[in-house]
Amino acid sequence: MKRVPTPFLPPIALDVGSRARVPLYRQLYDWFRTAITEGQMRPGQRLPSTRSLAGELKVSRIPVANAYDQLVAEGYLETFPGAGTRVARSIPNDALPNTRLTALTGKGTGRLPQVMQKRAARRISRRGTALTQLPAQSWLNIVGPFRISLPALDHFPLGVWSKLVARYARKPAKGIMGYADAMGYLLLREAIAEYLRTVRGVRCEARQILVTTGSQQGLQLSAQVLLDPGDRVCVEEPGYPSARQAFLAAGARVVPVPVDQEGMNVAHLARLGQGARAVYVTPSHQYPLGMVMSATRRMLLLQWATRTGAWIIEDDYDSEYRFGSRPIAALQGLDTGSTVIYIGTFSKVMFPALRVGYIVVPADLVPAFAAARDAADVFSSTLYQIVLTDFIREGHFARHIRRMRMLYMERRAALVKAIRAQMGDSLEVVGSEAGMHLVVLLPRGTDDVAVSRRAAQLGISAAPLSTCYAKPASRGGFPSVPAVGKLGWRGGLILGYAGASPRVINDGVSKLKTVLQG
Ligand SMILES: Cc1ncc(COP(=O)(O)O)c(C=O)c1O
Repeated sequence: MKRVPTPFLPPIALDVGSRARVPLYRQLYDWFRTAITEGQMRPGQRLPSTRSLAGELKVSRIPVANAYDQLVAEGYLETFPGAGTRVARSIPNDALPNTRLTALTGKGTGRLPQVMQKRAARRISRRGTALTQLPAQSWLNIVGPFRISLPALDHFPLGVWSKLVARYARKPAKGIMGYADAMGYLLLREAIAEYLRTVRGVRCEARQILVTTGSQQGLQLSAQVLLDPGDRVCVEEPGYPSARQAFLAAGARVVPVPVDQEGMNVAHLARLGQGARAVYVTPSHQYPLGMVMSATRRMLLLQWATRTGAWIIEDDYDSEYRFGSRPIAALQGLDTGSTVIYIGTFSKVMFPALRVGYIVVPADLVPAFAAARDAADVFSSTLYQIVLTDFIREGHFARHIRRMRMLYMERRAALVKAIRAQMGDSLEVVGSEAGMHLVVLLPRGTDDVAVSRRAAQLGISAAPLSTCYAKPASRGGFPSVPAVGKLGWRGGLILGYAGASPRVINDGVSKLKTVLQG
């Protein structure tokens, strides 16, 4: 016999005493009728069998069956042989009194219940309002060509991964299913520390690694621990919009500091960032423009932080993918004063939905970060932490990165070639030596948000460069941006190439051409 899943039911309060004034069947009938007309139970929703409901309520089956029969007769419920009883898919309009449901759908008498008429103005926090300043980003809902931050998911070694998941998921130990350390699974922290010391030149021990649910949580926790509401935090301009959001969510004031070919301009930082509590940078691969912070700038930045007592938040999000030259070591490795909070992620080297990242926390801040994590969401899924540990220790991780580096190099070349072949010199390509995206600067006067919206309608995900600016200067009625190292203002598109094959990339560029010519 087919097993029918047990449905959920809101709690039912019954007066079952011997002196109850309303008979049981009527109480049940009233309860279901109200739940249906007020929208607590929705059309098509399953009800438990009369036997199981009677058992749960510890009453005889007869009143339950009588209530169901009455509700079926009045059209509130429907029964199907073998499929049990459900809320009717269409409830007759005259069965609905002037309740919340009619008020919500705007049908019925048109008079709102008193409670809605009297409601005082509702207010959200200033930081809540600030978070909604970014335009609706329709391009991010598309998994088509050029979606930023999308790795080559079809090249992920799923076979190996699912074997490792099955190794632990089939017969999980108690340690996997219970509560665990807020800092993360120790063996994973050891594996991450070894990787960072060896490959990224980060100075760290496993006890400093906090496993997060991705860089975004790394940013949120850093903001919570380091910043008070109203504190100033400097960010790169243009920069990573989600970092700005994390700082705004913590009530901080975001101060944009321009970048040039050497990364964040520290002279501007010293001028604009007076009194700043922290600065956020992407020194290995500036997001979105792609330059590497020069050695001189790194030293100047560290000196500035030491002099002012500010924290440096280093986001090292995709440095595994450097094509022409050796990987650039992390800024954290040069820091002798424990001023750098180093944030990394497995979103790009594994897959984003894994939601695993890490923070390298200065040793004296470990208790504060651990407490903040505990207060936020306690800890990350242990199963995935353990599986990832084996994935790294058994060599699959290093192999996957090596393969993806080759693949992304080919895909980047395919994109640059397609742009050149189809668009000539009309688009200027910026930052194509590393990572998983590049930027094309649009002809002067082009509204990049409008272009992105039009491209999204054709299934192309091309993020507008202007959303990376905290202060898009208004020129000609739309936000526009300065070209790197050029005078004047240009809009642009951020094009991810990692997640699409050369053929899809080529087709995507043709569609972009149509959009730009339209
Ligand atoms: C600058 C930057 N940092 C971090 C991330 C990764 O974020 P997460 O680890 O939260 O997926 C991205 C992804 O787009 C990014 O562009």
